[in-house]
Amino acid sequence: MQTVEIIRKKRDGNDLSTEEIRHLIQGYVKGRIPDYQLSAWAMAVYFTGMSTRETADLTLEMVRSGEQVDLSAIEGVKVDKHSTGGVGDTTTLVLAPLVAAAGVPVAKLSGRGLGHTGGTIDKLESFSGFDTSMTTEAFVRQVNQLGLAVMGQTADLTPADKQLYALRDVTATVDSIPLIASSIMSKKIAAGANAIVLDVKTGNGAFMKEEEQAIELARAMVEIGSRIGRRTVAFISDMNQPLGRAIGNALEVKEAIDTLKGDGPADLTRLCLALGAQMVILAGKADTPGEAEKRLEDAIADGSALELFRRFVKAQGGDARAVDDPDSLPGADVRLEVAAPSDGIVATMDAEAIGLCAMQLGAGRERKGDSIDHGVGIVLSKKTGEAVRRGETLATLYANDPDKAEQVKGRFLNAIEIREDPVKPPRLIRALVT
Ligand code: URA
Ligand code: CA
Repeated sequence: MQTVEIIRKKRDGNDLSTEEIRHLIQGYVKGRIPDYQLSAWAMAVYFTGMSTRETADLTLEMVRSGEQVDLSAIEGVKVDKHSTGGVGDTTTLVLAPLVAAAGVPVAKLSGRGLGHTGGTIDKLESFSGFDTSMTTEAFVRQVNQLGLAVMGQTADLTPADKQLYALRDVTATVDSIPLIASSIMSKKIAAGANAIVLDVKTGNGAFMKEEEQAIELARAMVEIGSRIGRRTVAFISDMNQPLGRAIGNALEVKEAIDTLKGDGPADLTRLCLALGAQMVILAGKADTPGEAEKRLEDAIADGSALELFRRFVKAQGGDARAVDDPDSLPGADVRLEVAAPSDGIVATMDAEAIGLCAMQLGAGRERKGDSIDHGVGIVLSKKTGEAVRRGETLATLYANDPDKAEQVKGRFLNAIEIREDPVKPPRLIRALVT
């Protein structure tokens, strides 16, 4: 097979065959096809797109390029959830014990945060001793015993995606819907999911700024899932402001604990119930969203979700006493209140800028491998649409460095716009693509 002919075929807008896609991806991973040829193909895809069949083929080829987690020893439908990345997105911490308490096995591979978005493993490591490094055997055993485990991504999953993503990053071909969709889905499938619930964020803090783009991405992923026999549904949810009120690792753990007790912020609670209900339905444990949400609400009300969280933290070596004494989690020496500069209504919040504020305080990393401070972050007192008086607290910055807190204060104020006229808060859940 002539690689140059395959590139020409895609350049001219034709569909590639399954074999041609295999030739490209296997050849690239094995080093037979150079970066410049794969770059040319990626650019051709950027301009001419891919059919759903090609996109599904590319996904499967990337799955096959590396190890695949075998979850077959876990009984039941393994449903994974994936968010395309947001600010203060505390959902996984809540959902994992919540849906597990409703009888859905949760075998989750998670990552660390980068840039303005946080990562589940970093958040969980707020518990002293918490460990996400384990063998797949131990991971499967824990899910069977407890119903829930979170493992760091150690196995060599989807090396083709890693290589292709690095190439796209430097050739201006990241923002291609079929390439993004196959990249995300390949990782979920390699991680062993039978069914997938996606949370595609849209707005100023999201990868997909425009709602139409987010819907298009959601459709592409749902179609891949349907073609390869992994039922997939996707929510489009708002990221024009951080989710919940807490941004930062231990702060988000506290927020998750509150939510598991039924005292969490309304938006975080709503999104967790919506996502969780779809997970419960895909796992075959309920037929309708109403019935599924009722199960989840019961697991909150009777304390079983929180109890499962305690046992999960303990099972992975963490100090579970902190679940009942969140003040013993890592904290911050400096608490700096950011006061509103004027009377009015919070009209817009730049979620990405606020995420970067939290990063600057030390909650996130600029580069892979940077260390983070689990105790720092931001707690919002006001969100979009809420009224504020001049001098009233908009947010509290938690820091361990007073100079950093002062610097971030100005930056935070720049990320908030206060207006006199009433403003409607952005709609949290925009669509469900099935
Ligand atoms: N996230 C991914 O995992 N892959 C992409 O291509 C883009 C965002
Ligand atoms: Ca949050």
